[in-house]
Amino acid sequence: MFGYREMKILMLGLDNAGKTTILYKLKLNKIKTTAPTVGFNVETVSYRNVKFNMWDVGGQDRLRPLWRHYFPATTALIFVIDSQDTGRLNEAKEELYSIIGEKEMEEVVLLVLANKQDLKGSLTPQEISDFLQLKDHLDNQLWCVIGSNALTGQGLVEGLSWITNNTH
Ligand code: GTP
Ligand code: MG
Repeated sequence: MFGYREMKILMLGLDNAGKTTILYKLKLNKIKTTAPTVGFNVETVSYRNVKFNMWDVGGQDRLRPLWRHYFPATTALIFVIDSQDTGRLNEAKEELYSIIGEKEMEEVVLLVLANKQDLKGSLTPQEISDFLQLKDHLDNQLWCVIGSNALTGQGLVEGLSWITNNTH
């Protein structure tokens, strides 16, 4: 009835996308000075009646083969994209499709955060969404693209709210 729910959220994306900044903005409401993550950070974030166990895994090229070890028991995937880094958008798209193509991830709900919306020249959430073509490729999976700014927190609670409303 009024019980707490708990769920595992896995946050992935290319290096420098803003994952760790997002994690600590949600956890501490602070901008933490980050260094590239080697390994992972995990924090619990409570929102409404949900306790999110949020896993933030390093996104550097050489670390990406490790991502699959974090797949088990994931309820929602947050895939973070640097919306200004248009030169690596295709690389991000390929990594995203490779994750969601995995059997263990076929039932997760997918939230794409089009991060760094504050930066000049960044693509809009709609442009990122069109580029990723999720509408054409995902029939059975719930997904959503939301714009975010990890420095102000814009879009982050909206994202958690979407996840809460689309899982049980
Ligand atoms: P890895 O750990 O290497 O996978 O990177 P990451 O995705 O964790 O990126 P991180 O959070 O370390 O952020 C990289 C840089 O982007 C930092 O300098 C952040 O301050 C900056 N950054 C993150 N989010 C935003 C944002 O929304 N806007 C702006 N302007 N900068 C951001
Ligand atoms: Mg990091």
